[in-house]
Amino acid sequence: MAKLIGGLGTSHIPAIGNAIHKGLQQEPYWKPFFDGFPPIREWLGAKKPDVVVIFYNDHGLNFFLDKMPTFAVGAAQQYVNSDEGWGIPSLEPLRGEVDLSWQIINTLVEKEFDVTTCQEMLVDHACSLPLKLFFPEGNYPVTVVPVCINTVQFPLPSAKRCYALGKAVGEAIQSWDSSKSVAVVASGGLSHQLDGERAGFINKVFDLQFLDSLESNPEWATQFSVHELVKKTGTQGVELLMWLAMRAALTAASPKVQRVTGNYHIPISNTATAVLALEAV
Ligand code: DHB
Ligand code: FE
Repeated sequence: MAKLIGGLGTSHIPAIGNAIHKGLQQEPYWKPFFDGFPPIREWLGAKKPDVVVIFYNDHGLNFFLDKMPTFAVGAAQQYVNSDEGWGIPSLEPLRGEVDLSWQIINTLVEKEFDVTTCQEMLVDHACSLPLKLFFPEGNYPVTVVPVCINTVQFPLPSAKRCYALGKAVGEAIQSWDSSKSVAVVASGGLSHQLDGERAGFINKVFDLQFLDSLESNPEWATQFSVHELVKKTGTQGVELLMWLAMRAALTAASPKVQRVTGNYHIPISNTATAVLALEAV
């Protein structure tokens, strides 16, 4: 059976792509964020996952407001980045792990999640940037399964539902008939709001409490409604649902996790950024 070895989380701001493209990683503005990644790469280098399952949110690229699945799972041979303009000009396509995609889709539907199945799927910065941050040299040594959670068009799924989804994805990975090792990834957050009266809103106290809860009390955030989460973290801060799903997936591997490394920095663009690696113990 496949082995679920751990979980990673990172923010996914397009400006990060631009900073990578221009080689700004050591500039004072960017260094505190990029400094979070060498320990993550060290962990990846030691553990060598074959596959990553990425919880992310599409931002109106593959799914627009007229057709918005709550949960969508990619089942494609490859995923092409199609963010326009402002990130890295050209990114290599992500290679799909189709067999695991169907394992996840079948398991989710069996467990009564009504998912959208995507045999063709374009991806944006939320799916492509984590890979570039984890494997900056390119030629990604992993295949991927993208799991998309709607956080852009109301109604959004509840924290409780995203936790249940993550747990079911973890169970699907653990029961996959394969000798491969798998890591789960969360892409998004933490607190940020890009528009409206509260543009620039950041909530460090809540972010740190949430990051702590991922280690010690993973269901903590499920007490909040989506509207409460928006109030506490901003309209885009609700992307932290990805982190909750990632953490829930790990419960399928082990009742306990150990924090390998983490980093929290304010701000990059309008966002409170975080980077985290959790290992199933
Ligand atoms: C920013 C943050 C995001 O999550 C995103 O998807 C796009 C932009 C930002 O802070 O600029
Ligand atoms: Fe985003």
